[in-house]
Amino acid sequence: MRKNIVAGNWKMNKTLQEGVALVNDLKSVLTAKPNCDVIIGTPFIHLATVSEMVKGTVIQVAAENCADKESGAYTGEVSAAMVKSTGAEYCILGHSERREYYHETPEILKAKVDLALANGLKVIFCIGESLAEREANKQNEVVKAELEGSVFHLSAEDFGKVVIAYEPIWAIGTGKTATADQAEEIHAYIRSVIKAKYGEKVAEDTSILYGGSCKGSNAPELFAKPDIDGGLIGGASLKAPDFKAIIDAF
Ligand code: PGA
Repeated sequence: MRKNIVAGNWKMNKTLQEGVALVNDLKSVLTAKPNCDVIIGTPFIHLATVSEMVKGTVIQVAAENCADKESGAYTGEVSAAMVKSTGAEYCILGHSERREYYHETPEILKAKVDLALANGLKVIFCIGESLAEREANKQNEVVKAELEGSVFHLSAEDFGKVVIAYEPIWAIGTGKTATADQAEEIHAYIRSVIKAKYGEKVAEDTSILYGGSCKGSNAPELFAKPDIDGGLIGGASLKAPDFKAIIDAF
């Protein structure tokens, strides 16, 4: 049975002190056991501190990136082994901002996925089309190519450690959300592509999250859809009550 997951993606927000304050706020609002897994994706500098702070709580921790190289002379990079050593359990990879602003290609992402898994991290792998691609009705082609380019080389066992996040680029940080029907349609398509590659059981067990201006007000309708298993949340993960409202949608 697949998991329902609400994952935050802080992006490049919060100093260390602000991040600690947010985690304390989250711990104080998440008193009852939620009906979903809760993950917070933080900048590298928070990982060790936050992982320590959430021990024994329902909150799990994700990095927002890792290097495509194992170790060595790559100034400024952070390896998957380093991420794992902080206590983080997940790594977000393939976010459209990384693809666009940092030129992360399918090949680079494939290397990152392999290193994250080899180091015992689970992966939240992001896919999604641009507005121009949606207007040209190419969204299915785009998400399929993104899966084929960076995660479909994995064994079924390794693919089982991957969560997919569908994030239409035109909905990220824009306040424009895909309608629940639009999101469900492409989530079902993504699951069918996974089924064609790995079979029914793996497809049914894969969590597929929706991302893009997801908030407390639209989460219930999105999460009620059969193929939407939670959300990857940017803006609304930066304030504990907003993030909790989304968790409460389950
Ligand atoms: P948003 O970001 O919730 O601010 O739209 C989502 C994401 O990019 O993960």
